[in-house]
Amino acid sequence: MLISISSRVLVCVLLFVVGCVDAVEIDEEKKHFIVFLEMKPGLNEFDAVETHLNVLMSVKESYVEAEESMVYSYTKSFNAFAAKLTEEEALALSKREDVHHVIPNRYRKLQTTRSWDFIGLSSHAKRNSKETDIIVGLFDTGITPTADSFKDDGFGPPPTKWKGTCHHFANFTGCNKKLIGARYFKLDGNTDPADILSPIDVDGHGTHTSSTATGNAVAGASLSGLAKGTARGGVPSARVAMYKVCWASTGCADMDILAAFDAAIHDGVDVISISIGGGAFGNYSDDSISIGAFHAMKKGIITVTSAGNDGPTPGSVVNHAPWIVTVGASAIDRKFISLLELGNGKNISGVGINIFNPKKKMYPLVYGGDVARGAGNRESASHCEEDSLDPSKVKGSLVFCELITWGVDSVVSALGANGAIIQSNEYLDNANIFMAPATMVSSSVGAVIHSYIKSTRTPTAVIYKTRQLKAAAPMAASFSSRGPNPGTTRILKPDIAAPGVDILAGYTPLKSLTGQEGDTQFSKFTLMSGTSMACPHVAAAAAYVKSFHPLWSPGAIRSALITTASQISRRLNPDGEFAYGAGNLNPSRAINPGLIYDLNEMSYIQFLCSEGYTGFSISVLTGTKSINCSTLIPGHGHDSLNYPTFQLRLKSPRRAMSTVFRRRVTNVSHPVSVYNATIKAPPGVEITVTPSTLSFSRLQQKRSFKVAVKASPLASGKMVSGSVAWIGARHAVRSPIVVYSPEDEEVFVRE
Ligand SMILES: *[C@@H]1O[C@H](CO)[C@@H](O)[C@H](O)[C@H]1NC(C)=O
Ligand SMILES: *[C@@H]1O[C@H](CO)[C@@H](O)[C@H](O)[C@H]1NC(C)=O
Ligand SMILES: *[C@@H]1O[C@H](CO)[C@@H](O)[C@H](O)[C@H]1NC(C)=O
Ligand SMILES: *[C@@H]1O[C@H](CO)[C@@H](O)[C@H](O)[C@H]1NC(C)=O
Ligand SMILES: *[C@@H]1O[C@H](CO)[C@@H](O)[C@H](O)[C@H]1NC(C)=O
Ligand SMILES: *[C@@H]1O[C@H](CO)[C@@H](O)[C@H](O)[C@H]1NC(C)=O
Repeated sequence: MLISISSRVLVCVLLFVVGCVDAVEIDEEKKHFIVFLEMKPGLNEFDAVETHLNVLMSVKESYVEAEESMVYSYTKSFNAFAAKLTEEEALALSKREDVHHVIPNRYRKLQTTRSWDFIGLSSHAKRNSKETDIIVGLFDTGITPTADSFKDDGFGPPPTKWKGTCHHFANFTGCNKKLIGARYFKLDGNTDPADILSPIDVDGHGTHTSSTATGNAVAGASLSGLAKGTARGGVPSARVAMYKVCWASTGCADMDILAAFDAAIHDGVDVISISIGGGAFGNYSDDSISIGAFHAMKKGIITVTSAGNDGPTPGSVVNHAPWIVTVGASAIDRKFISLLELGNGKNISGVGINIFNPKKKMYPLVYGGDVARGAGNRESASHCEEDSLDPSKVKGSLVFCELITWGVDSVVSALGANGAIIQSNEYLDNANIFMAPATMVSSSVGAVIHSYIKSTRTPTAVIYKTRQLKAAAPMAASFSSRGPNPGTTRILKPDIAAPGVDILAGYTPLKSLTGQEGDTQFSKFTLMSGTSMACPHVAAAAAYVKSFHPLWSPGAIRSALITTASQISRRLNPDGEFAYGAGNLNPSRAINPGLIYDLNEMSYIQFLCSEGYTGFSISVLTGTKSINCSTLIPGHGHDSLNYPTFQLRLKSPRRAMSTVFRRRVTNVSHPVSVYNATIKAPPGVEITVTPSTLSFSRLQQKRSFKVAVKASPLASGKMVSGSVAWIGARHAVRSPIVVYSPEDEEVFVRE
């Protein structure tokens, strides 16, 4: 989460909410490291802490110094500790026989509601009474316990498996039978000047994601009349537990994320939802979310994460480990438009949430660059940067400028301007909220405004209050991070797309709508956009599937979500599967997928071996003794990963290539069923499936098949896609098949 604490460019803030830009400097002197040791089953908490201190003492002068530098002892799900170390101390520890791995602590950023109706989960959808036993844990900025979304009317006591805790923290009224757990994790334990040392949400992000996943139905929700309707979570009867790991000044630290995993796995959550991104780590054994999620998977807990907001750059997807569900963002069928009328009668539609009705018919219109405070400021005034505009020339006017930093509406309104017209070619596919009359336009529309301003001595304009319109959907959001997967060429990521544009959900009373200085708008609900918003939709759908199939593994639940996703038009979305994975989430179909591609821990280990991970680095993920890969890889390493999608990367754009994928499906529906393979192959790719018919005569029966893919050469950086669907009498089990060509021929690929 990147939040600016300076009030200057209070960007839109946040984790995987679109529009954030500012970074926080971390003091390099006080580096933290996480040290992983071998798992010792049966080791009690006290002994584990003693062991950790002993290891630490080997590089510290004294016991006291070791104790002081220790930040966390992870004792429940991992045998690891976090401590303040110098680079030399970290290196010395990593050389110890009993130390598996040492990684530096890093900081990450965070990345209706009509959205549930749009993806076909209506308020009358079939529900399982077990939904109330499902616990969704979120790692986020905290939660608003007083929100209507988390009232516990009609809820019984927490499920008996729940071992988590909740206390009365500062500014936090406590938990109830709906919000059953709330904790916070902060490595230094110090107060953050912009936050509160408590699970309370001063940001709004965590309240938004939690209510999207699990919120009660709240009628009459809206943002000043916009997006009006009943706001509800995907699993309104499920319980929610908040693990606050993201802080206003520092973002989300790896050490805190690991501590939250340690707690959540022990507490008994069913689903973990993480709308946090950060660096695009290629190596799974160096990434706290990947490590934590592996341990969760071993305990049958599914981890759902956001793909990141760095699209449409190719290869920008994060959280791409094969045991994680990686979620891209799509738009639903509405958009928010503000009409902008120019003095010459021309009407233009602008983007963004402007909840102000104009008080006058027209306002003087000025271009920022023309009203600079001195000629030297002309360039920065064209971007309406702070201290660049002449207040006497902008007072009472609408100011037109080009976006460079967020907060233009704040800057001009502080100078007494009536509002802002902001030109940008980015951020136009989601609606930002403004604290003053404002709207955003593309540069081609900007050119029209420029020439109008030049054409008259008294240019005028007015911005009307935003209205909601129907839009074509689903569309992949341009900000949603794209494949190909930087971690492995063999797995398609993101896995799936879900609504993440202009999502209405709960908000915090502790922050104004924009978080900008001078903003006096507050609301119980607000609109946010980002893969952060898409992630809790899929986490809730996973919880929904689990309420019908409590014994399904995380791999089985993910398979059900992926193979039942609704197709998204490749014609309208040229990045195709690299933007949306298998398609748009469809929870009602996911509860009855017909067949599943199941996966267990050993499949992942074999896969990692085939990817060239050493036994030692794999053991960081598994928490076991070092793994001997040479005894584990059967004939065909990568095929052991029974993933429900298929991806082939050509070795070179100039060479044809073929491969065979082996998969095994398990029947989970009608006792006697026959499925026929339906293949869709893109031009230049030949796909054959053998056998082409699968017959099942009993439940849990498994059937294997092969998918042979022969691809002709493909231009550098190009991707083509097809699919194989197993069509039965009642089900269609569809998997995309993606073939792509390396961006750069020189890149060496291990095959
Ligand atoms: C938190 O509680 C303290 C003590 O009651 C109070 O002074 C402070 O204003 C509260 N902070 C917020 C953000 O509500
Ligand atoms: C522009 O919009 C305004 C407000 O809705 C309307 O009154 C006017 O007729 C429109 N002008 C044109 C040229 O469509
Ligand atoms: C990942 O990092 C570990 C430890 O640094 C290293 O042993 C391993 O080889 C790396 N794996 C890959 C695939 O790069
Ligand atoms: C791993 O297994 C192979 C084959 O069984 C054996 O030759 C090798 O010594 C083992 N390596 C280690 C480090 O145990
Ligand atoms: C498939 O599995 C389901 C549930 O696991 C079972 O009810 C059904 O009988 C099985 N059908 C076949 C054809 O094996
Ligand atoms: C599968 O194919 C067989 C043979 O072509 C056909 O008889 C059967 O109806 C098909 N089943 C389905 C569900 O399409």
